Amino acid sequence: MKTVKKILKRFGQGLLVLLLLIGGFCAYVALTPPRTYDPPVAPDIKVEVTEARIKRGETIAQLQCIACHGDNDNRLTGKHLDDIPAMFGNIYSRNITQDKEKGIGNWTDGQIIYFLRTGIRPNGSTAFMPQYGLMADEDVKSVVAWLRSDQFPVQPSRKEAPPAEYSFVAKMLMWTIIKPGDYPEQTIELPDSTKSAAVGKYIATAVADCYGCHSADYLDLDKQNPERTKGYFGGGSKFNGLDGKPILSANLTFDEETGIGKKYTKEQFIRAVKHGVRPDGSVLRYPMSPMVALSEKEIAAVYDYLKTVPKVRNDIAGKSAELQLAEK
Ligand code: HEC
Ligand code: HEC
Repeated sequence: MKTVKKILKRFGQGLLVLLLLIGGFCAYVALTPPRTYDPPVAPDIKVEVTEARIKRGETIAQLQCIACHGDNDNRLTGKHLDDIPAMFGNIYSRNITQDKEKGIGNWTDGQIIYFLRTGIRPNGSTAFMPQYGLMADEDVKSVVAWLRSDQFPVQPSRKEAPPAEYSFVAKMLMWTIIKPGDYPEQTIELPDSTKSAAVGKYIATAVADCYGCHSADYLDLDKQNPERTKGYFGGGSKFNGLDGKPILSANLTFDEETGIGKKYTKEQFIRAVKHGVRPDGSVLRYPMSPMVALSEKEIAAVYDYLKTVPKVRNDIAGKSAELQLAEK
């Protein structure tokens, strides 16, 4: 009897210590700025700015950077990101024009590349921003070439957005599931342009981030091995629509009943992705934006790739109907 009591007492003390530790950790996360890391050693890369790279970099910027960093003045001066749910705080993107003080004019090419790959700034702080860990070296260099070019959106501007205010939830996520990416150890080559499905996979995972929105949860991705992401391309990730109501991403696997297997021909798919119109004429809603920057060939390649992705049965229409009911 005595030993049982003793064990229980020990257990109780252990639990108390554990609770204190958890409580202390939560308080620490809540009271300190977002997690930082040791200032990284950025690679020694100097990007040669060529016309071809500027053009390619502009395409990638149109698919990625401009939506988040472009302000009303058409420059990348940073702004409030209205789409990010309030539970994560008040998030502002930053000025990434060539201004040396307010922008990133003083960053080296290597520092920009390191940040785009990992999400870690030269001073070791992190940003709530997508990481481009799988993008080919050549494409990352093109982004840098575009940032250094004489294009209007990146010309120096001293305008500035307020600093981002991260909520406890966001900071906790940065200690747990949202981690910096690893800097790739080897060069990442562009896919073989004669293999359509390979090109499609590259676009869908490394450049246009289709999988990030079209899997089960945009916060829970396997960034190193996208195909291992939960519900890969089965849709159902929940976003805020423009009307403030929740909206679920579509199932893009070729499942005949709940995916796009029977719903879309290749031509119809191209039209939907490039111009935002479904085969029945209905318009795709925000945050699914028409991707004019992608060529028809690239979108066809994504279609060819999706055909090879394991089918997922996930009835988005049914789930959306349930959500609407729950809202009312
Ligand atoms: C989903 C929105 C989003 C996209 C897409 C995005 N960014 Fe960002 N970016 C942010 C946010 C938000 C921050 C700042 C967060 C903070 O202050 O903690 C940021 C910060 C940065 C910074 C750090 C600047 C500084 O002064 O600290 C750089 C550089 C940057 N982004 C470049 C890019 C480039 C280049 C692209 C396109 C390849 C891009 N971003 C795409 C949201 C985005
Ligand atoms: C920012 C998140 C986001 C990104 C990135 C994104 N999508 Fe979407 N997509 C959505 C959402 C949300 C919907 C649902 C729109 C609706 O119901 O009106 C959708 C709908 C679609 C549809 C319509 C499917 C149907 O059932 O009719 C297609 C096709 C599609 N996306 C393809 C793509 C492709 C290809 C890419 C990458 C090139 C991509 N999406 C990138 C969020 C995204």
